[in-house]
Amino acid sequence: MQNINTWPEGLKHGRWILKSNWNELSLFETDRKKNTPRPPLQKAPSTDTVLALPAIDSVRKGVGSTISLNEAIHARQSRRKFSDEALSLDELAYLLWATQGVRKKTDKITLRTVPSGGARHPLESYLFVQRVEGLKPGLYHYLPLDHGLELLKPAEDFGEESDKLLDEALLAHNFGAAASFIWTAIPYRSERAYAFEAYRLILLDAGHLCQNLYLACEAIGAGTCAVGAFDQEKSDRLLGVDGQDEFVVYAAPVGKPKSEV
Ligand SMILES: Cc1cc2nc3c(=O)[nH]c(=O)nc-3n(C[C@H](O)[C@H](O)[C@H](O)COP(=O)(O)O)c2cc1C
Repeated sequence: MQNINTWPEGLKHGRWILKSNWNELSLFETDRKKNTPRPPLQKAPSTDTVLALPAIDSVRKGVGSTISLNEAIHARQSRRKFSDEALSLDELAYLLWATQGVRKKTDKITLRTVPSGGARHPLESYLFVQRVEGLKPGLYHYLPLDHGLELLKPAEDFGEESDKLLDEALLAHNFGAAASFIWTAIPYRSERAYAFEAYRLILLDAGHLCQNLYLACEAIGAGTCAVGAFDQEKSDRLLGVDGQDEFVVYAAPVGKPKSEV
């Protein structure tokens, strides 16, 4: 067993993030207790054009019923070999709904298809699209409240080959996917209420998103692989986020599997 006391000072404190400090939180003057303004429930679109995705009721009937939940759980595995087949827009809409779809909204919170500590939902979904029917290749941002997509940057506007940039950002864990989900955290959404407890909750939230993506992929004959090993700076730069108030925490390339891995 490693003795963490021999680790460099900064590293050995890393373990505290895994532990609950809820008792300390009750003594802490959080921004929520100070009644500071609540951050928006979703990041506002940065473009004028939001593409409305196929309505989820029709999409669910069309793509989501091929296998049972039991079968999806049984079949789930990390898939890293994808065919050239494109995803349909219905399939993509289904996966976005399964990972972040909004089922209820009040002025303070949203309730979604995934749980989130205190219903803060601090994660934003970006997509790097390579092969999705009806979508130009490029970088997109999902707007859960609108069930819409905004095109942030077409692939050709990246200057150099966008799939090379994506591969560098994801440290070659893109696996030639049809579309790669890349999730950022906007930590303040959780920090406002939970201060130092926010970090643990945010990462737990990310796990729920990705597990739903795994199961939803299996349900529609697609596959994915969680990616925790990525280049922070290059990934943030690729998405155009500042790396401070918003940064990449997780990714998952999706495609139609070539063969069993
Ligand atoms: C948090 C997390 C991070 C992961 N990061 C990577 C990764 O960066 N690259 C990769 O190829 N697989 C990654 N995986 C997939 C695991 O390697 C995989 O889940 C594990 O080998 C078990 O295989 P299975 O998912 O097929 O059951 C990650 C999985 C999790 C849950």
